[in-house]
Amino acid sequence: MITGKVVVITGASSGIGEATAKRLATAGAKVVLGARHADRLKAIVAQIQKDGGTASFLPIDVARKEDSQALAAHAIQCFGRIDAIFLNAGIMPSSRLAELKTDDWDRTIDINLKGVLYGIAAVLPIFNKQHQGQIIATSSVAGLKVYPGYAAYCASKWAVREIMEALRLEAAQDKANLRTTTIYPAAVHSNLISGITNDAIRNGEIAVRKQTELAADEVAKAVEYVIDAPAETDIHELTIAPLNQEW
Ligand SMILES: NC(=O)c1ccc[n+]([C@@H]2O[C@H](COP(=O)([O-])OP(=O)(O)OC[C@H]3O[C@@H](n4cnc5c(N)ncnc54)[C@H](OP(=O)(O)O)[C@@H]3O)[C@@H](O)[C@H]2O)c1
Repeated sequence: MITGKVVVITGASSGIGEATAKRLATAGAKVVLGARHADRLKAIVAQIQKDGGTASFLPIDVARKEDSQALAAHAIQCFGRIDAIFLNAGIMPSSRLAELKTDDWDRTIDINLKGVLYGIAAVLPIFNKQHQGQIIATSSVAGLKVYPGYAAYCASKWAVREIMEALRLEAAQDKANLRTTTIYPAAVHSNLISGITNDAIRNGEIAVRKQTELAADEVAKAVEYVIDAPAETDIHELTIAPLNQEW
């Protein structure tokens, strides 16, 4: 049951996060959108409201611990509770290790990995107090196997998998009624590859995506499915890919 649920979404200004915000709002959720680009968030929230949905936003950088705290506080202030959070913000400035793009490595770890940890830290006290909650995170097929040119990205997405599994096990030990899901998308149409700084890797991505690519809304449907599942059902992991994608 999604109607009336309060769902916080990071990385909601484009791609998978935007599609999920729109889909959940259409299903009756109250959605709280976070990302850095306030202009994009504002436009998406306006569109949701125009379509009859309920939404709010806060510009945040998930690499800043206090911003994730502020997003959770904003959701509570607007809607009184949080039922689920979708930790989806991410970047993929891929390059080969020998290029030594250490600033890109730092950003990848800060956003994709620490951003998820900070998001968990922001909601866990709230969920423990409610004795109920749901945390969904976007990893990637790159969190299941490694590809040349994607070391820091794969490492960050692998870490998301491990963090989410530890969270699930600890919550189960505590009988915390915390549902956790890690989603592993393959190629999805979005802005993600625009951040790739290595020409060969970016061209390779463009070539793959010309052959096969999912619409962001297909991942949004997966998020809707896990939120809509019965309260006693915990869907641990979901891998979603276009048919015939070879990797
Ligand atoms: N597209 C794919 O093929 C694919 C496959 C597997 C996994 N994924 C994962 O899916 C997630 C969503 O990506 P996407 O494909 O939808 O790409 P996207 O369109 O580029 O969306 C990424 C989102 O993350 C936000 N973001 C980036 N850095 C942020 C930060 N420091 N603080 C807050 N928000 C930040 C961006 O908004 P701002 O720029 O406004 O901050 C944007 O809303 C990512 O975690 C990505 O790794 C994507």
